[in-house]
Amino acid sequence: METNHLLIKLVLLASCLIHPRVCSPSCNLPAIFNFGDSNSDTGGLSAAFGQAPYPNGQTFFHSPSGRFADGRLIIDFIAEELGLPYLNAFLDSIGSNFSHGANFATAGSTVRPPNSTISQGGSSPISLDVQLVQFSDFITRSQLIRNRGGVFKKLLPKKEYFSQALYTFDIGQNDLTSGLKLNMTTDQIKAYIPDVLDQFSNAIRKVYSKGGRRFWIHNTAPLGCLPYVLDRFPVPASQIDNHGCAIPRNEIARYYNSELKRRVIGLRKELSDAAFTYVDIYSIKHTLITQAKKLGTIFMFC
Ligand SMILES: *[C@@H]1O[C@H](CO)[C@@H](O)[C@H](O)[C@H]1NC(C)=O
Ligand SMILES: *[C@@H]1O[C@H](CO)[C@@H](O)[C@H](O)[C@H]1NC(C)=O
Ligand SMILES: *[C@@H]1O[C@H](CO)[C@@H](O)[C@H](O)[C@H]1NC(C)=O
Repeated sequence: METNHLLIKLVLLASCLIHPRVCSPSCNLPAIFNFGDSNSDTGGLSAAFGQAPYPNGQTFFHSPSGRFADGRLIIDFIAEELGLPYLNAFLDSIGSNFSHGANFATAGSTVRPPNSTISQGGSSPISLDVQLVQFSDFITRSQLIRNRGGVFKKLLPKKEYFSQALYTFDIGQNDLTSGLKLNMTTDQIKAYIPDVLDQFSNAIRKVYSKGGRRFWIHNTAPLGCLPYVLDRFPVPASQIDNHGCAIPRNEIARYYNSELKRRVIGLRKELSDAAFTYVDIYSIKHTLITQAKKLGTIFMFC
């Protein structure tokens, strides 16, 4: 966990140096609005479909915390580093405080709307387009309700926070595994990635049109190193590298990431008064996984 802290600090610092706009004035970001999947879900899927069960939550929150992890997620460390409270899930109607942001992520979310329901083994119905609808609704209604005064002023963000906030995205992993679930080949999955990224880019344009100017985008993890991918979508031994990762699955993730990076570079030109930070989670996690013994980090991937 110390390693995580250090990495977030380094990435935040580096991005302050590269994009002063992300951080000015003096790294003061009053709110975070997050979109994503289980990598950053702090209670969305749990609020809608039941709490993520034990051992989730066991090492840090010591009870179910809505996270599909034993401890904190990267989004929690980002909030800590920015001096903000942990993000409540937009869908969590019990005890939530949205004064410094909201989390629209749910575990299992995809960028593209899923074609099958959860009960049919499909992904979360709260795909990125739905998260955007909820965000639009949140902007309008949070201000209406805030104007009632009283306790609502302390539970909902100020209007100006929407243009000053950090908008974080960590999504796409489940779009890649959705192809694996359908037994698609690496080439077949690569073929639909442009569609996924078109929809991802449109989501960013939509947040921009609502006033968002500071974007923080995570690329996808080394899919082929994740235990659940190795277990559910096995490959022949000849396709396992010397770190125990499935080579063709990592090829899919790296292709997604190189295309995502191209999109972000394009968006930087297109939306030139916004600041974009592209975070190479693939490399960070790959290092942590392949050098776990040296770094002494224990990780749980759902
Ligand atoms: C769902 O089905 C439609 C129509 O066949 C297709 O265009 C779309 O790509 C499918 N979405 C996913 C996530 O597979
Ligand atoms: C919501 O959280 C903020 C920041 O932690 C705090 O200042 C505020 O008092 C909280 N609102 C309520 C009603 O407790
Ligand atoms: C994928 O392949 C497995 C193993 O051959 C099979 O059991 C499963 O039904 C297939 N799934 C689909 C969606 O075709």
